[in-house]
Amino acid sequence: MIISKNQLFMEFLEQVKDITSEAAKEAGNLLINGLDRVRIVEFKDRQDICTNLDLEVEKLLVDKIKGKYPNHNILSEELVQENKDSEFTWIIDPIDGTKHYVRGLPLFCISIALQKGNEIIFGLAFNPATNNLFYALKDKGAFLNGDRIYVSEKQNLADSFVYAELPNYKLSKQDFKIQNKRLEKLFQKSYRIRAWGSGALGLCYVAMGGFEAYIVLGPPPKLYDVAAGILIVKEAGGRITNLDGELFSDKNINIIASNGKIHEQILSLLKKD
Ligand code: IPD
Ligand code: CA
Ligand code: CA
Repeated sequence: MIISKNQLFMEFLEQVKDITSEAAKEAGNLLINGLDRVRIVEFKDRQDICTNLDLEVEKLLVDKIKGKYPNHNILSEELVQENKDSEFTWIIDPIDGTKHYVRGLPLFCISIALQKGNEIIFGLAFNPATNNLFYALKDKGAFLNGDRIYVSEKQNLADSFVYAELPNYKLSKQDFKIQNKRLEKLFQKSYRIRAWGSGALGLCYVAMGGFEAYIVLGPPPKLYDVAAGILIVKEAGGRITNLDGELFSDKNINIIASNGKIHEQILSLLKKD
């Protein structure tokens, strides 16, 4: 029997899904059981933190991935960046939403993506507090706990729930003004805005139809904040661009993700002065 390249690639993606799902669940248990011993080990700047659990989860995930794919590159948020000149790169955020995790709030997740060249081919986000496991395989759809998910059908911004990354102290005075103005317009024209501070989960909530859009009005996210979520939104039928309507790339990361139907309404609203 001849096995096609496509079939082999699909088998590889299925294996990636199984291995990362298991690793994420193990890491999730570590987080739930680690809540009573979590402590901040580093302030990366005035507010951004790294905890002992970020480091422990990162180690667990990296060890599992390296055990199976020793020649792949790794780009993980905290300590591990290894370039082995592979066409495959793992992009890991061990906890997206650390500021919530340390406060016992249930809005955080483990986020893992795999890139081949510049293309994201697999993405997973697992929130152990709610037991939501989101994942997507390139060209095979997006899933929540094994069931296929799709973006919402809402056609109007006026009926849309918007998940925003809010402006903060990292913006220049001028950018702060511009983004606040955009926020004000969104407040007026959308149904409601929520800002729950996990980029990965925000994107997954667009993918499952809970929100119609995810909009960055704060500092640009890092690739590890959004890589998994971007594929999950795409595979659920959504659209992702920047404010100028250009497609996402790792150099063009200030994203607007939506169900597609309200995308142009958002772009034209935010572009106007
Ligand atoms: C955070 C999340 C959040 C964003 C913060 C990030 P972290 O990541 O992506 O959505 O608003 O700016 O720091 O630090 O919890 O991995
Ligand atoms: Ca993050
Ligand atoms: Ca993180």
